[in-house]
This record gives sequence, structure tokens and C-alpha cells, in this order.
Amino acid sequence: MTAQQKADFLRLRKGGRPIAALTAYDYPTARLLDESGVDVLLVGDSLGMVALGFSDTTHVTLDHMLHHVAAVARAKPQALIVGDLPIHTYDTPEQALVSARRLVDAGAEAVKLEGGLRQAEKVRAITSAGIPVMGHLGMLPQRVLEEGGYRKKGKTPEQAETIREGAQALVHAGVFSIVFESIIPETARWLSESITVPTIGIGCGNGTCDGEVAVITDVLGSFPWFVPPFAKPETSIAEITREAVARYILRVQGA
Ligand code: KIV
Repeated sequence: MTAQQKADFLRLRKGGRPIAALTAYDYPTARLLDESGVDVLLVGDSLGMVALGFSDTTHVTLDHMLHHVAAVARAKPQALIVGDLPIHTYDTPEQALVSARRLVDAGAEAVKLEGGLRQAEKVRAITSAGIPVMGHLGMLPQRVLEEGGYRKKGKTPEQAETIREGAQALVHAGVFSIVFESIIPETARWLSESITVPTIGIGCGNGTCDGEVAVITDVLGSFPWFVPPFAKPETSIAEITREAVARYILRVQGA
């Protein structure tokens, strides 16, 4: 299936079987998640925090993303590979298109960027070149420093309406799907019902969107030093790793 066909297929899932998306940053994780049947592999710029050791995503560069998108693409997944455009790689429509093309050359099948109304022209520039785009609204991690932290969004009717306007602008510019991050559940549900492309929630409550995305380390419990309040670990790889390494050290040291 081509990238466009995969994106179109996901678009048709609006209101149907929920979309299961996970982040992946490397080859083995991408293969394992794909073999498990996930719909979308997002090479998110959360990479900066959970794989590269930065304090937030504002340190991530296009070169970081290219390196990790290429690793995920080598897994040749059935799932759609979405690559995040990092901060300051889409400040103008021209720059957005150049950056998006570089991600595609590295193996991304679609790109994601953060923001609503002010990004519509950039989304249009990318989609006009035939590259599928995923939007991202609500809490925007690339603006965490300006906002002074990670806060819930869509708490008032005015905030909800601003997000709806942003979503409409993105839809008109051609996005095939939008991530909603940390939007309160009632607003996330209302927004999902009022727009025509699938919404993929993170930190928006259960069943409020057309699908969910999670950061893989939150699901596996492999990054215990920062766990968002909405994370639902399915296991604790951190504990399993510590126990396995303790056994290894005992064996090597002959105890
Ligand atoms: O970078 C990322 O992992 C993301 C998800 C939180 C949606 O954008």
C-alpha cells in the first residue's frame, strides 16, 4: 500500500474501529509493534525526552528525526510511519515543505506538526506536494517553555471553540487525522464529533476520540523517571531490566 493509501484508509476509520497508534524510535521496537498489529508508528519528537535524554522536545532537531525515522523505516512496517516535524523546522510554508520532504526521503510516509490556524498554510504546502499530514492540537509540547508546563486544554467554551477553529482550518488544509493532547474529555468528545477526520487522543480520557496514541515507554514502563499522569503502563520493563541485569552481574561475578 502506498503512503497515501494508508493515510486514506485511516481517514475512513472515522467513527469505526478505533485507531491504535504508538511511538517508535528504533528498528526493533518498530518491528515488534508492527508485528503486534498497531495501525500507526509515530516517530514523535518525544524522542528527545525518552530516548535522547533532553528535558523537553524543544531540543530535537531535524537531523535527530531523520536518524530515527530511517531506523523505523528499515523495519518496513505495514503500519503508517508518521514523522514529527521538530520545532523551527516549519516556520514558513517553504521551510515546512523542505523539512517534510527530508522526512519522507528518510522513510516517513506522513508528517505531523503542532498547532492550528497559524499552521494551515504550512499544512497546505505539504499536502499539495502529495505528503499526508497529521495535525496536533490541545497541549503542544513544542510550546511547553512559553506555557510554563504541561496543562489541560479545552476547559472553557472559549478554549474549546479556539481548538475547533484550529481543527477546521487543518481539515480544510488537508490533514488526514489530528492528534488531540491533554484536552478535557467532554471537549475532546465534542470536538471529535464535530470534525470530519479521525482524532487520535492522548491524555483526553477513554473513548473520547477515534483512536489513541501513547508514548511506547509509557506503555512498557521503560522510562520511570517521568511518567505523565494519564499514562497506563501495561508492564514494567524498568523493573524487568534491573532484575535481569542484577542476575547477569551475579553470574559474571560468580556469586
Ligand atoms: O512526540 C510525540 O510522541 C507526540 C505524541 C505525544 C502524540 O507527539
